[in-house]
Amino acid sequence: MPKKKIKEIFIGSNNKGKLKEIANLLPKSLRIYSNLNFKIPSPKETGTTFKQNSLLKAKYFSEKTNKICMSDDSGIEIDILDKAPGVYSADWSGKKRNFNLAIKKVYKEISKKDKNWKKKKLSARFICVLTIFWPNGKFISKVGKIEGRISNLKRGRNGFGYDPIFIPKGKRLTFGEMDPHKKYSMDHRFNAFKKIKKFF
Ligand code: IMP
Repeated sequence: MPKKKIKEIFIGSNNKGKLKEIANLLPKSLRIYSNLNFKIPSPKETGTTFKQNSLLKAKYFSEKTNKICMSDDSGIEIDILDKAPGVYSADWSGKKRNFNLAIKKVYKEISKKDKNWKKKKLSARFICVLTIFWPNGKFISKVGKIEGRISNLKRGRNGFGYDPIFIPKGKRLTFGEMDPHKKYSMDHRFNAFKKIKKFF
């Protein structure tokens, strides 16, 4: 693995929620490039695992920009739905990335499995694989998780995606209700980042 500390990086994502979180994790001295300036279309996520998609994106953006690139592939696994939506978490929001729609689908699919689910605690987790890809073809991928449960009501306006329906273990608030910096310091992305922090 390259020994030199990374001084500048391209964040390979077109998801503004993720960009904001990743930028928050990185040291302030680092020069960050993102698609807000480059406008490179996202690649097709053809992988069937978080790791495959994370690597595919980091490699694609690094090859397009010739820069060291970091990508995230993430999603929510809901146990009663046999770990769906998982790698397809973004797809459940439709072409327009409407997460009200995705959350409605989650509730509908859960109700099909168990009509009395609102009285129960349904376990779920967010998973994130972060990959750093260097222009010389070297890469590193690390996984981070956070366990929790599904809220039976959509709560809170912070964050993005499935944040309003996820309550981390040991907490009462959903990620959507929580102070964003509190979320950033405990979530799946933070837990993956801890494992690659030494490169910065
Ligand atoms: P992808 O990694 O681009 O396939 O997209 C992952 C999807 O998972 C996002 O569009 C979100 O819907 C969801 N997701 C990942 N991380 C989070 C999070 O921290 N909060 C809420 N939703 C998330």
